Amino acid sequence: MNIVREAIESDREDVISVWASCDLIKPQNDPRTDFDLALNTSTSTILILECENQIVGAVMIGFDGHRGWLYYFGVKPAFQSLGNGRILLSAGEEWLANRGAPKAMLMVRNSNSKVIGFYERLGFGIEETSVLGKRL
Ligand SMILES: CC(C)(COP(=O)(O)OP(=O)(O)OC[C@H]1O[C@@H](n2cnc3c(N)ncnc32)[C@H](O)[C@@H]1OP(=O)(O)O)[C@@H](O)C(=O)NCCC(=O)NCCS
Repeated sequence: MNIVREAIESDREDVISVWASCDLIKPQNDPRTDFDLALNTSTSTILILECENQIVGAVMIGFDGHRGWLYYFGVKPAFQSLGNGRILLSAGEEWLANRGAPKAMLMVRNSNSKVIGFYERLGFGIEETSVLGKRL
């Protein structure tokens, strides 16, 4: 049976292994620091999807007071195309909606455009917006 729950500190390495299997870890980001920050910030969390006591999917979520954002969203390759992404995304949306977030947002790297069809299937649309960033 599949269960979605909030991650706890001891899930860190299993979650990072899910992200690694999905090629979501990039050199500019330290996933351990990111994991700890998300768990120790009151407006963010990491949801994990467990299948037979194994962590097979994970997503980081944060509500910034205006929009809800999803990061590091992935399902282990062997567990993809089974509806697990749908379950996890829906749980993430529910987490945000329960905190009053009116809209869920996410960014897709240009090198990963094949995943856009998944998000469109689940109701997301591409926005005419440029995303800018600056390291602090
Ligand atoms: C994106 C990802 C989480 C989807 O998970 P999944 O478990 O394979 O997705 P599901 O099986 O729940 O699919 C849900 C629906 O989306 C559809 N879908 C899945 N991938 C799709 C794609 N690339 N294009 C179009 N539709 C897609 C499925 O057919 C299914 O439709 P249905 O329920 O109407 O039959 C998974 O492919 C993944 O982890 N990819 C690698 C990591 C990644 O790129 N994450 C996104 C970072 S922005």
